[in-house]
Amino acid sequence: VEMVNSLPDYGVSKSHDTIMDMDDRKHALFASSISKDDGGETKILGENILSLAKENSFAKIAASLFLGKKITSKDTEELVDFILRVSVDHGPYVSGAVNTMVTARAGRDLVSSLASGLLTIGPRFGGALNEAAKNWFSGVVDGKSAHDFVEEFAVKKEYIQGIGHKKYRIDMPDPRVDEIKKYADKLEQSKFLNFALEIEKITTEKKGNLILNVDGVIAAVLLDYLSEKEGYTDEQLWELIQQEFFNALFVLSRSVGFIAHFLDQKRLDEGLFRLSEDDVADASLS
Ligand code: ACO
Ligand code: LMR
Repeated sequence: VEMVNSLPDYGVSKSHDTIMDMDDRKHALFASSISKDDGGETKILGENILSLAKENSFAKIAASLFLGKKITSKDTEELVDFILRVSVDHGPYVSGAVNTMVTARAGRDLVSSLASGLLTIGPRFGGALNEAAKNWFSGVVDGKSAHDFVEEFAVKKEYIQGIGHKKYRIDMPDPRVDEIKKYADKLEQSKFLNFALEIEKITTEKKGNLILNVDGVIAAVLLDYLSEKEGYTDEQLWELIQQEFFNALFVLSRSVGFIAHFLDQKRLDEGLFRLSEDDVADASLS
């Protein structure tokens, strides 16, 4: 594997080549590999929709659809199920929930309020899983030392995605992170989690809140599970990173919490939200 910019250069992903080789591609407006109608029967990942729904958990269906193929390990299914359950909400304080609540109190509908929360998910809140996966993947594949890895980010003055939290710190750990780490007990090796924990050792020496956060630990354990339990090669893991797969589970799960906050605000009906002058400091230079 040629390493380009410290990340593997796997070139164009196979799935792209497969699509472009299809005979009927020139006539079809779209291509889809996850679902279709087959003689009037809806099939998802090649299985009748009712059979899929009756015989599989939501976690297995979601993970399989996101991956574009069925997961095979019960351990992976249980990990994904826990990630979906533990990520639904983290209180009415976090930026995404607040935006949903503000939008709901402005009289907007469910989809608009949900969208407001979802649009908050990004590099600092809830959307760091995929970049964290890229960090742990590149660190392991490049064989980089944790010290050199952290130093590179410090020199670039860039934040390490997957590291840091506004509430939790080394002496007040995130219980979710500790619980997700336990899933590594079912692994023969956890090279990506081990690398992430090496990074955390260094960053928490700088500041107590620079812990391996829930985005970072989900990314690390998912990488290890996909590698060991689902047989994903490094090339396939890199494709998932390029597709932004690792953000998908958080977005799916936190949508439940945002919808709940919308409905709760509708029930509470406290009217339009407005900050008071005391809530906003005057930062003008004049
Ligand atoms: N990597 C390296 N250094 C960091 C990081 C990081 N991820 N986060 C903060 N720092 C450093 C800053 O450089 C700064 O250093 P300085 O004092 O020498 O200038 C110091 O820590 C304080 O920086 P702040 O921005 O004030 O830290 P804050 O506690 O507000 O940041 C946050 C918390 C926003 C989570 C931040 O750590 C971050 O952006 N992390 C990366 C994104 C990420 O993983 N987000 C997911 C959070 S969990 C979730 O959303 C579900
Ligand atoms: C979350 O899951 O929303 C949190 O980790 C973010 C936060 O600031 O609590």
